[in-house]
Amino acid sequence: MRIVEAFRAAYGASPETVWHAPGRVNLIGEHTDYNDGFVLPFAVPWGVTAAITPRTDGTIRLLSLQADGGPVTMASHDESTGWTRYVVGVLAMLGDRVSGADIAIDGDVPQGAGLSSSAALEVAVASALNDLHDLGLTPMEIALLGQKAENDFVGMPCGIMDQAASALCEEGHALFLDCRSLASRTIPLDLASHGLAMLIIDTQAHHEHAGGEYAKRRAECESAARKLGVSALRDVTDLPAALELLQGDERRRTMHVVTENHRVEALVGLLRAGAVTEIGALLNASHLSLRDQYEVSSPELDVAVEAAVKGGARGARMTGGGFGGSAIALVPVDRLDRVQESVAAAYAERGFQAPRFLPATPARGAHRV
Ligand code: GLA
Repeated sequence: MRIVEAFRAAYGASPETVWHAPGRVNLIGEHTDYNDGFVLPFAVPWGVTAAITPRTDGTIRLLSLQADGGPVTMASHDESTGWTRYVVGVLAMLGDRVSGADIAIDGDVPQGAGLSSSAALEVAVASALNDLHDLGLTPMEIALLGQKAENDFVGMPCGIMDQAASALCEEGHALFLDCRSLASRTIPLDLASHGLAMLIIDTQAHHEHAGGEYAKRRAECESAARKLGVSALRDVTDLPAALELLQGDERRRTMHVVTENHRVEALVGLLRAGAVTEIGALLNASHLSLRDQYEVSSPELDVAVEAAVKGGARGARMTGGGFGGSAIALVPVDRLDRVQESVAAAYAERGFQAPRFLPATPARGAHRV
């Protein structure tokens, strides 16, 4: 394995353990996780591999096969910058349970595509350290640790979805997660037997203010919940009554979150009933809600979704945080070419950078390799 070779070349011995953790796409349930709601992501076939040997002197040595130069050496957590913060953040959250490590990282999650390469990195490192130090953490505890590293160390106020998907998903399944109770269930997602495929359309576009907008949406939801006297928007049961008490952005955000939670439950119901071909309408409805009520889409995402449907997709939506990144489209296998041509042509017509198409089959969550 090339990561083992790189580890040996850098540190002079084989790593004590190697773990892989995947990125994710979200089938439905967008911007619901930090509202204590429901999500339905699945793991993608790309991820991050972390090779680690513990140290006892507090030093962290860190090498990435995707970064130039040799290993970076850090005497303390404060010295970390850039991508290393996702790794060092995990070590920092483990406190004195871990005293330094030699680490090598290899990854193949398409960068900037919104497929959660950072969650994959956190979960791969946390899983490996859990294994090496016999910490006895469950996959959900590993996900929470990764989220905490991202919230408290990196400073991104993300929810639990990405890390949970990376830690808990199973091959051929989506993960139905209640982000309040953290109860989860895997749901079989066998598209091929229905003549369908899930196509990821990477817009190759990214909004530079995405992080700030994300925090703003989160704050708006929390403020709306306070005004409604509920602990989270997940608790809104009478939507018209709630909307009467709100105005402007908070009103629209609430509309999205409440209806999106119902769409997740409806989609899970359709999957369990074997009505896979019918989920497309819910994907379309989710996209419109994210575009018009939650306002986190982008021209590139909207064009991808519209052109995919025009080309014969049964449904499509933006996936992930928004403002760029990727859309997903549910496509009958015999229309895959037409859908891609339709999206590529629409992009060319508007002068957008050409999109990238990636097939998404539900892959396995974090595991030792
Ligand atoms: C990002 C965050 C997740 C989630 C999605 C939106 O991916 O990391 O926690 O909030 O956005 O659904």
